[in-house]
Amino acid sequence: MRFIVVIATLIIINCIKCESDKCFHQDDHPFPFFGSKTAYSYVSAKQNYTQPNCKPLQLWLLSRHGTRHPESTLIDEISNLNEYKDNLTNNSSLCKEDFEAIKAWIFNLTEKDGSKLNNQGVNDLSSLGLRLQSLYEDIFDQPYNPITYSVLSSNKERSRDSAFYFLKSVFNVNVTDIPLINSDDIKLNISKFQIIYDNEELKNFRNSIYMQNVIVRVSNILGLDRNLEFGTIKSMYNSCRFERSVDINSHPAWCAVFSQEDLEVLEYNDDLKYYYSNGYGNSYNERLGCPIVRDLMNNFRNKSQAKPGPKGVFYFGHSANVFSAIVRLGFARDTTPLLSSNFNDMRDRKWKTSYLDPFASNLMAVLYECHGEKKVTFFVNEVPMTVEKYGCTLCPWTSIENMFDPIVSSPSCTFDENNSSAFRVCTTTNILFLTCLLTFFYYP
Ligand SMILES: *[C@@H]1O[C@H](CO)[C@@H](O)[C@H](O)[C@H]1NC(C)=O
Ligand SMILES: *[C@@H]1O[C@H](CO)[C@@H](O)[C@H](O)[C@H]1NC(C)=O
Ligand SMILES: *[C@@H]1O[C@H](CO)[C@@H](O)[C@H](O)[C@H]1NC(C)=O
Ligand SMILES: *[C@@H]1O[C@H](CO)[C@@H](O)[C@H](O)[C@H]1NC(C)=O
Ligand SMILES: *[C@@H]1O[C@H](CO)[C@@H](O)[C@H](O)[C@H]1NC(C)=O
Ligand SMILES: *[C@@H]1O[C@H](CO)[C@@H](O)[C@H](O)[C@H]1NC(C)=O
Ligand SMILES: *[C@@H]1O[C@H](CO)[C@@H](O)[C@H](O)[C@H]1NC(C)=O
Ligand SMILES: *[C@@H]1O[C@H](CO)[C@@H](O)[C@H](O)[C@H]1NC(C)=O
Ligand SMILES: *[C@@H]1O[C@H](CO)[C@@H](O)[C@H](O)[C@H]1NC(C)=O
Ligand SMILES: *[C@@H]1O[C@H](CO)[C@@H](O)[C@H](O)[C@H]1NC(C)=O
Repeated sequence: MRFIVVIATLIIINCIKCESDKCFHQDDHPFPFFGSKTAYSYVSAKQNYTQPNCKPLQLWLLSRHGTRHPESTLIDEISNLNEYKDNLTNNSSLCKEDFEAIKAWIFNLTEKDGSKLNNQGVNDLSSLGLRLQSLYEDIFDQPYNPITYSVLSSNKERSRDSAFYFLKSVFNVNVTDIPLINSDDIKLNISKFQIIYDNEELKNFRNSIYMQNVIVRVSNILGLDRNLEFGTIKSMYNSCRFERSVDINSHPAWCAVFSQEDLEVLEYNDDLKYYYSNGYGNSYNERLGCPIVRDLMNNFRNKSQAKPGPKGVFYFGHSANVFSAIVRLGFARDTTPLLSSNFNDMRDRKWKTSYLDPFASNLMAVLYECHGEKKVTFFVNEVPMTVEKYGCTLCPWTSIENMFDPIVSSPSCTFDENNSSAFRVCTTTNILFLTCLLTFFYYP
């Protein structure tokens, strides 16, 4: 009997100890994957992948803007957490340091900061520029001029600023008149054709046992006697991940309320969202990538035939742009679809927003000449990609051309750029919307 009591006491003491061991502020390597708000440096390769026997002829880059502040609606929502910080009770199981960090948390962004590129964002694009410049000297051997270097940006301030700091670091110039996409651009203005709709899988996942458990665990750890709303948890998550993205070695106060399992569930929530709105979850999304991939192929074809053309093509846009190219090229495609019900089975999925779409995410392709033969390597966030069909990383240009030419020149891969009404009607009414979707499924 006494033995059992001793054991029980030991277990209790151990548990109290293990609880306090889980102090977030003492964790030297906290979980870094936050879906589309992941810091670039946690997932990019930043390795010196070069081809010693090849000369780069053209570099084609499509980049999402760098790290930015939350949009103004999120800034409002995060500010509301001030109320919850006062509700933290003595029943909270947070360690003292984490508890006090939340009590002392100050949020100093205001609406006018909404969506602006921040210091980390400047750093993302400047350091990317410097790495590429040192790896591809043959590409960056001319002073900046719009003939040798073709630049195009979305008209959003964060993308323009990203382009500005990229060019500034690479060419040491201040380009104040960054070329912007015009309204009928079909390769970068995805919103022109994109269908945004509420996805059932995403809705079901938000109501699933996985998300329910996150809500219960977070409410408990704060010592609340009732469950928080999903929206409040989402604000805590946003506060955590935006602060972490600005200062990648920081320990943001609100991160302490999440276990790693919680963060993996929330990451999957982002993955589902992008899988259906920009990814393989809807075959229409592959079509959205047709114009941008056609541009890539046309550039490489011209260059491989020694026609005049830029040495560098640099596009600056948004998550949807990078996803559209990744999906059209066929990278990160799982054989099993992501569903609200298969989170556990899909833990090793290829479709991870954290890896595909961190801040400053990019799809890059380099055309090389290797002993007279033209070759191509694709990179996602500087990680060289394997083209599964051929199992190559440094692939013969003729294979790539044979693979993608039929795709991008097929009728199902074209948009009537002067008549987007056929596509946008999908967002207007439900009945038309369904008809619309059905139409698209006939044009994979
Ligand atoms: C890559 O090259 C740069 C410049 O040559 C060098 O500073 C850096 O240490 C190299 N990084 C690796 C991982 O080799
Ligand atoms: C926080 O505390 C205030 C006042 O004590 C209360 O009105 C509010 O409902 C509490 N919020 C939560 C989430 O407990
Ligand atoms: C802490 O928990 C106890 C037992 O559940 C409860 O009686 C007490 O009111 C709680 N204290 C606070 C500050 O919530
Ligand atoms: C919570 O604990 C602190 C320090 O242990 C104490 O000063 C405070 O009065 C307690 N608050 C409540 C509501 O029990
Ligand atoms: C806002 O807070 C951050 C970190 O908490 C700090 O680095 C920054 O200087 C603050 N800015 C202002 C304007 O107070
Ligand atoms: C770019 O602008 C900054 C700030 O106005 C200035 O300090 C810098 O000298 C300029 N650089 C060049 C190359 O013009
Ligand atoms: C993109 O297309 C949409 C819909 O046609 C249009 O409203 C928007 O102005 C375009 N964006 C740009 C930057 O031209
Ligand atoms: C490729 O070259 C042709 C001329 O031969 C030109 O019309 C076309 O715009 C070029 N395409 C690209 C993407 O550079
Ligand atoms: C779209 O309209 C523009 C300007 O009216 C025209 O130059 C272009 O050829 C048209 N494109 C197509 C595919 O009809
Ligand atoms: C645009 O496309 C839709 C659907 O294909 C068609 O019904 C409509 O007549 C077209 N409008 C114009 C101006 O070509």
